[in-house]
Amino acid sequence: MTTTFNKCLMAGALPLAILLSSSAFAQESKGQGEVEVLNWWTSGGEAKALGALKDKLADDGIGWQNMPVAGGAGTNAMAVLRSRITSNNPPTAAQVLGYDAQDWADRDALSSLDDVAKAGNWDKVFPQPIQRFAKSGGHWIAAPFEIHSTNWVWANTSMMDELGIEQPNTWEEFIASMKKAQDAGHTGLAYGGQPWQDATVFENVVLATGGADFYRQAMIDLDPKALDSDTMIKSFDRFRELLQYKDDNSPGRDWNLATAMVIKGDALYQIMGDWAKGEFLNAGLTPEQDFMCFRTPGTQDAVTFNSDLMIMFKNDDDQQQSMQRTMAEIIGSPEFQITFSQLKGSVPARTDLSSDGLDACAKRGYEQAKTAAESNTLMGSMAHGYAAPAGVKNAVFDIVSSFVNGNMPSDVAAEQLAMAVQGARS
Ligand code: GAL
Repeated sequence: MTTTFNKCLMAGALPLAILLSSSAFAQESKGQGEVEVLNWWTSGGEAKALGALKDKLADDGIGWQNMPVAGGAGTNAMAVLRSRITSNNPPTAAQVLGYDAQDWADRDALSSLDDVAKAGNWDKVFPQPIQRFAKSGGHWIAAPFEIHSTNWVWANTSMMDELGIEQPNTWEEFIASMKKAQDAGHTGLAYGGQPWQDATVFENVVLATGGADFYRQAMIDLDPKALDSDTMIKSFDRFRELLQYKDDNSPGRDWNLATAMVIKGDALYQIMGDWAKGEFLNAGLTPEQDFMCFRTPGTQDAVTFNSDLMIMFKNDDDQQQSMQRTMAEIIGSPEFQITFSQLKGSVPARTDLSSDGLDACAKRGYEQAKTAAESNTLMGSMAHGYAAPAGVKNAVFDIVSSFVNGNMPSDVAAEQLAMAVQGARS
C-alpha cells in the first residue's frame, strides 16, 4: 500500500489508532480463526499455565499463535511489542504489566472490553488496586490473569531439616539461617543477577526494613525524602549483607535457573515472586512438603503485588474482535482464574472465589492479598510495573544493579536513587 498512508506513516504523522485499524496490516501475520499472543512466559511453569489458555481457546475453535519473547518481567517483550506496533503489525493481544497497559491505553491502541466486563461483573469481582491499571477513563482495557506477589521466600525443606533451620520470622534469623547454610558448604541464597531480579529482591529489603508506609512513600509516592533517607541507607546496607549469600555464578542467571538450585538442593532459599512456585509444581513437588513458602521476614504485614494483564489491540476485523472478546471472557472467568493460578503459582485476581482448589501456599497468599487490600497494604511492585511508570522503574533498575555489581556505598546509592528517580520524572 504505497499511498500517502505510508508517506504519512514514514513521517510518523498518523495517530496509533489509525495505524492499527488498517486491517490489511493487522491481518498480515495471523491465520484465519487464530489469535497471536505476545508474551514472555517461556519457563516450564509459565508455558504450562499459558497452555491452559491455549486449550480453552481451542475448545472454542480458536487457534493459537504463540509469540514468546524470553526475558523475565517482560524486559525484552515490551521492546518487541513497541517495534511490532511501530511497524504496524500488532499482535492480537499481549501480556503486559500495570503501567505499560496504561501507556498503550493512553495511545488509544486498545480495544475496549466493557461488554465482556459488564457480562462478567468485573467491577464487583476484581479489586480496586487491579482496576486502577486494567481500566482507563472508566473503560476496561485489559483482562487480569491473576495476582502475583513478590515478597516470598522459597525454601528447600530437606536442607532446612538437615541444618535444623526453623522458618525465620525476623531479618536477623533470616540472615543467620543463610550463614548456617553457607558454613555447611551450601549456597544460602539462589540469585539471578539481572536488573529486574535485583530490583525484585531489593524491593523486598526496602519493605522489610521500612515497612509498608515507607515502601509506599519511597516506591510509589517517589518522595525524595524517603528515597534518600537513613531508612533507605539501612535498606542498602541490608541488601549488601544479603548479597553475601549468593554464589559467584549468579550474574546473568535466569530466575527459573535460580529456582532450580533450590529445587535441586544446591541452595537454601530464593527470594522471588510466586511465579517461582510454578517451577516447583512443574517439577512435581508439593508445597510445605518438598519446599516451603513464607513471606520475606519483615514483610509479613504487607503484600507487594503485580498482575499480568492481557491487552487486545484495536483492529477492524470482526473475527479478530470476537476472538479477543472470547479470550477476555475466558481469562476473567472463575474456572480459568483457578486453573491458571494452580499452574502459574499465583492467586486468582477475582476476590469472589473459594480457595479450596488452591495449594497451601496459594491459600495463604489469597487470604493475605485480601487482608492487605482491606488494610491498604496491598502495594504495587516497583520491579513489576505497578508502583511507577517504566521510566522510573528503569532508573531504579540501573541504580540497584550498579549497587549489586559494584561496591557503591549505601549512602551514595540512596542519594543516586533519589536523583535518578527525580531525573526520570522530569
Ligand atoms: C513477571 C510476570 C510473571 C512472571 C515473571 C517472570 O513480571 O508478572 O507472570 O512471568 O515476570 O518472568
